[in-house]
Amino acid sequence: MKVLTVFGTRPEAIKMAPIVKELEKRKNIESVVAVTGQHRQMLDQVLSIFNIKPDYDINIFKPGQTLTEITTNSMLGLEKVLDEVKPDVLLIQGDTTTVFSASVAAFYKKIKIGHIEAGLRSGNIYSPFPEEANRKLTGILTNYHFAPTETNRDNLLREGYDEKNIFVTGNTVIDALKYAIKDNYVFDEEILNSIDYENKKVILLTSHRRENIGQPMENIFKAVEDVVMEEKDVEVIFPVHLNPKVREIAHKYFDGKDRIHMIEPLDYLPFSNLMNKVYLVMTDSGGVQEEAPALGKPVLVLREETERMEGVLADTAKLLGTDYKVIYDNFKNLLHNKDEYNKMAHAINPYGDGNSAKKIIDILEEEFEKEK
Ligand code: UD1
Ligand code: UDP
Repeated sequence: MKVLTVFGTRPEAIKMAPIVKELEKRKNIESVVAVTGQHRQMLDQVLSIFNIKPDYDINIFKPGQTLTEITTNSMLGLEKVLDEVKPDVLLIQGDTTTVFSASVAAFYKKIKIGHIEAGLRSGNIYSPFPEEANRKLTGILTNYHFAPTETNRDNLLREGYDEKNIFVTGNTVIDALKYAIKDNYVFDEEILNSIDYENKKVILLTSHRRENIGQPMENIFKAVEDVVMEEKDVEVIFPVHLNPKVREIAHKYFDGKDRIHMIEPLDYLPFSNLMNKVYLVMTDSGGVQEEAPALGKPVLVLREETERMEGVLADTAKLLGTDYKVIYDNFKNLLHNKDEYNKMAHAINPYGDGNSAKKIIDILEEEFEKEK
């Protein structure tokens, strides 16, 4: 079986790395990797950590790229790759515009599609934007839906997909996390080694969602700024996404604030090990919402909707939205209310046991055998 794996952004690369490694182990599979390069620096960081050398790099990245540019340039590049590779199956992961473009390009050539991390739904087509739509549109073209959880499977069943094509496998984010987390991890970044994680309350902040850019992100950063100014034992570490629109708002609120450390996006190993050391995580990221509960870290989710309710239902995550006062109050509460903090600070793993890549590739091989 010839399997073409396509991805383009940081989170896809992290979650696809265990899949690529698993494919390399299988003697009955020829594995070909193509990246669109939707992200450049943030993708290359991950490729180098996992030592993945793509066979094809379409290199579409342009600063300030529009969704239409990402879509059309990925599709044009992938058309050539698909013609050359002629895979039996295309594997894609998640909800980015790379994923949507790759699924359409493969569908046009009647190539079978396996969608990893299928079936997540917020129920609002505009949030996350455009990811909720990307995931649904990809689902329509998918032959094998690899759903991380039973909830994700139920979402697909409700939309009328045939149960024989849906497989609950956990999320490969946990496979990657197991590989990344080390006891006594030492950072290369001086700032991260110099922080007193025992005696300070250290907060890890990330924010980049398109629908938050503008007033919602202003509310988030203002609430963080105000709490940090009042609470002298709080330090915030904020690896700032490379999107210039995010950077502009971050500088507006956080420049000159000693205990708010704006740093460049971290490599995956320091980032995940940092998460393992901090007091609390505040984020609008999808992947971070899955990782923090697995590490027993409370998460304040800075979004109006989430397609990952499992952490919220298990009480390790709280869905706050983007209202200033709600964020301010909940942040304050988790700094002082020990009972509330302890209730949230327990490890749960609704997203898998770390063996998802093996399960997914086993299923793919079985299905391929059946259909031969
Ligand atoms: C994309 C995904 C989003 C995912 C996020 C992960 C879509 C529509 N969005 O959003 O689902 O959560 O990646 O981070 O697919 N930039 C760089 N270098 C990089 C990466 C980004 O400079 O390596 C800057 C560029 O100015 C770029 C901007 O960030 O124009 C936005 O990048 P883009 O891929 O369009 O969207 P993200 O917001 O990163
Ligand atoms: N991440 C990273 N460095 C950072 C911030 C995040 O390696 O500075 C990792 C994080 O561990 C997670 C993934 O990137 O696995 C999440 O990516 P992002 O938040 O950009 O996208 P999303 O998951 O929201 O699509």
